Amino acid sequence: MEKRLYHGAAFYPELWSSDVIAQDILLMKEAGINVARIGEFAWSRMEPEEDNIDISFFVDVINQLHANGIQTVMCTPTPTPPIWFTHGHPERMYVDENGTVMGHGSRQHACTNNAYFRKRAAIITEHIAKAIGPLPGVIGWQIDNEFKAHVAECMCETCKDLWHQWLQDRYGTVERLNEAWGTDIWSEYYHRFDQVPQPGAAPFLHNSSLRTMYQLFSYEKIAEFSDEQAAIIRNYSKAPITHNSSVAFHVDNERLFKNLDFASFDTYANFDNMPGYLINCDLFRNFKQGKDFWIMETSTSFSASLESYAKPHPNGYLRSEAVAAYALGAEAFCYWLWRQQRAGCEQPHGSVISAWGKPTVGYQSVLEVEQARKRIEPVIVASRPTQAEVAITYSDRSKAFLKTEPHRKLNHRGLVTSFYERFVDMGIHRDLTPEGADLDGYKLLFTPFLHYVSSDYRERAKALVERGGIWVIGPLTGGRTENHTVHTDAALSLELEQLAGVETLFTYPMEGTTTLGSAFGVSAPLSMWSSVFEPKGASAVGLLEQGLTPGKAFITEHRCGKGRIVMLGSMPTGEEGDLLLRKLIDHYAAEAGVTLRTDVTPGTIVAPRHTDTHDLWVVVNMNGDGGTVTIPVQATDALTQEIIQPGTLELGAFEYRIVQFSRQ
Ligand code: GAL
Repeated sequence: MEKRLYHGAAFYPELWSSDVIAQDILLMKEAGINVARIGEFAWSRMEPEEDNIDISFFVDVINQLHANGIQTVMCTPTPTPPIWFTHGHPERMYVDENGTVMGHGSRQHACTNNAYFRKRAAIITEHIAKAIGPLPGVIGWQIDNEFKAHVAECMCETCKDLWHQWLQDRYGTVERLNEAWGTDIWSEYYHRFDQVPQPGAAPFLHNSSLRTMYQLFSYEKIAEFSDEQAAIIRNYSKAPITHNSSVAFHVDNERLFKNLDFASFDTYANFDNMPGYLINCDLFRNFKQGKDFWIMETSTSFSASLESYAKPHPNGYLRSEAVAAYALGAEAFCYWLWRQQRAGCEQPHGSVISAWGKPTVGYQSVLEVEQARKRIEPVIVASRPTQAEVAITYSDRSKAFLKTEPHRKLNHRGLVTSFYERFVDMGIHRDLTPEGADLDGYKLLFTPFLHYVSSDYRERAKALVERGGIWVIGPLTGGRTENHTVHTDAALSLELEQLAGVETLFTYPMEGTTTLGSAFGVSAPLSMWSSVFEPKGASAVGLLEQGLTPGKAFITEHRCGKGRIVMLGSMPTGEEGDLLLRKLIDHYAAEAGVTLRTDVTPGTIVAPRHTDTHDLWVVVNMNGDGGTVTIPVQATDALTQEIIQPGTLELGAFEYRIVQFSRQ
């Protein structure tokens, strides 16, 4: 199929009459919506009674959409099993960590590991795939909806049995599990796998290994369910399959997307949370390398439910979001939702069209997105996003470790986003790369908040260093084993410490200790659980002042092959801390020879793309204040063909430009 950019919306035809559906399709055409996502909550419409399955309503809608030039992403409806499945069957329901069994209603109320759920999910999916797979309007599939968004690890009896099986597969013998988890502590020792509890209600904290492993077990099971659904669809359709995920959910995205065809995410970041929006683009681009991602859901203006609502976007912002996404590797920019809900619990949520069929406050912005989409489409489809020189490792497995051990309420998403934000502000192009990603082509690697550094990861990072790259390790990296215990050969493991040429003398929380860290000409308070180093071959770059361990190092640097390994043992905080980190990033970006960076002003971004003959900068003002960037050599405006002279390029509020440089 010819490559194009999609502009879409979530559509719920099962909630409306045929007249409204016909009107909606006309209105979609007017608004420039060229793809609709349907079906993800419609199980009871498709199978009102057990085994009474009829997909024809959806076949008809998809055909109507297609006849009007609108393509479809079809979903499996598994987040909302109907009443015939749930009523009188508490054993099929999700059980939370306090042991509360969910009732019918809302969504994600069933246990996705329940054998009967899997059976019914497979049956309905097969019917859908058979009926809808052959339709010409279907360009993609979405499995379920936002796995584990509202729920986390299920504690039901089914999960308990599967957990025991998972442990057996992982450890082989219960003796190995006892050893790995240190179960002599608090008389936790187990004689058989079937004695190992789920980390449910308890008077005090559970064993760290138990909690983290239960999360990894849950990650694996939900990904297996996704695999199972995808395999069924593939029997009937060649269209690519995705899932609409997020960094906020209780899933391992890297594992989840392994057996899917493209990555997609939902985001409802507010206007004033630009990094919270962009981080998704810089991450999801890298779950399926070389493949465009989709923004499957975002609001036209504001998200809302009965209990709360977000701030509406300022006029102009939606278009900036869309252009930035397309430039950073999105093939589609889609809204939740097309027509405002008449019923349910999300009646107030922003949409394209109101429940009474009129434009909403976001409608004008949708038209602006469509104009921009048409304008940039030829340039975007003829180019590819350019790989960054700087990689920041992202790990959902680490998210599990941090959930078990949040220190003082540390939150993985918040930590990673604020670490990442500096790179955006500093105009450094960056990839958030999954833990298992290939590190070829990167010059500078940051590994923050990775509690367990696997030997596989270490070897890939070491190879990057040996060929001349710089690897910055920390903060909060390396201090735990695979089983969420503490290393006993050295604080951060002997292998890592020897590689980095350090010995970790102490690990302790720095907050409230008056410790200052001094490096790159800045002195800043330090925070978080920290590592204090004695160089053993490395040189000290940052030293501690005051506090408990003055004179010791918290940043070190060690030669390795043609490159260097930098240990960052603590988290500088406050304004000075931010400055110190920026100086560190700046220093090592220069040392590593990073060139893919611009002096773009904060609030404006540059997304680099390329063709065989040209480099492109898609420059977008996102904060509504306008901005500037220095153009190094004469260039062309790829949209107007006008010459752009070297020097300062100014952008107005929410303006975007595509600057084209010819490559000699
Ligand atoms: C998403 C979900 C949608 C809708 C939306 C509202 O998390 O997938 O169905 O609830 O949020 O913002």
